[in-house]
Amino acid sequence: MRLRPVGILLLVFPLTGCNGWQSALDTHGPGAGSLETLFWIFLGVLATVWILTMLALVASLRTRRRPHADPLSEDPAANRQMTGTVGALVAATAVIVLALTGFSYAYQKRLMGEQDGTLTIKVTGQQWWWQVEYEDPQPSRTFTTANEIHIPVGEPVRLKLESSDVIHSFWVPSLIGKTDNIPGRQNVLELQADREGIYRGQCAEFCGWQHAHMGVLIIAKPKAEFESWRNQQIASASPASDDERKRGEQVFFTSPCIMCHSIRGTSAGGKVGPDLTHVGSRLTLAAGTLQNTRGNLAAWIVDPQRIKPGANMPLIQVEPRDLNALVSYLEGLK
Ligand code: CUA
Repeated sequence: MRLRPVGILLLVFPLTGCNGWQSALDTHGPGAGSLETLFWIFLGVLATVWILTMLALVASLRTRRRPHADPLSEDPAANRQMTGTVGALVAATAVIVLALTGFSYAYQKRLMGEQDGTLTIKVTGQQWWWQVEYEDPQPSRTFTTANEIHIPVGEPVRLKLESSDVIHSFWVPSLIGKTDNIPGRQNVLELQADREGIYRGQCAEFCGWQHAHMGVLIIAKPKAEFESWRNQQIASASPASDDERKRGEQVFFTSPCIMCHSIRGTSAGGKVGPDLTHVGSRLTLAAGTLQNTRGNLAAWIVDPQRIKPGANMPLIQVEPRDLNALVSYLEGLK
């Protein structure tokens, strides 16, 4: 009796993962929605087959042979019945497999259907973060950001998935099924969120030491809000206004930071690490590893290898006074 609550907990526990901002069973976009329907169809059919099989097994275990029956005797009537049953089951299996294949094909076609999205975004997997480039026919309206993809709600957006090093996989369970980012190849994906909100995605292909720390956020917002966000991101970095930030800017431009990072509107043009032009406006640091707070930003700069061992960001020597100024400068890049 004591064990019962534990048993119930164990049964219910896996279900607690079914809701939230990263769940294939709590979907808010047509792509993930199709997959969820397909999942429930498969689950229903396969569970039914399993239950019927188990019932047949139990029934056959409970049927007893007549006592003293001659094991070598043949019963033509029973043989005919057996052949009929097996034949019917084989036919049923074929029908079920064909039907599931048909469903699978139909839904996959829906997923791959390429509408022309109004917005095209190139998402490049890197060890271990996501480079996000917003394309536009007007070159002055293109810009690069990282680990955060803002989209207008209710509109299909075209994602071009690429990789710069190894195979990664882009997966936002609540919005879209997973598609690989493969070096030397471009995979196109259509992403749509039907409800405003923040959805979490995760690299779903083992890509090295920090594979688990390769998260991405999809932020779906009304069109007008999205446009104002985009205009703010297109703009170059605002110059440091107060003394503290000016000092931080100096620290940044005299340290190895500029070798790897870009800040548009300045001479920092490194392409190895994430673009920092508006880093202060992002919700997380290090690809979803840390919340973007002043303390975390300082910790990340001081010892990135402790937070994300193996990451390409090296240890640099920063004096504590300089660190404060540097953090103020970066934080102000909204
Ligand atoms: Cu990138 Cu796993």
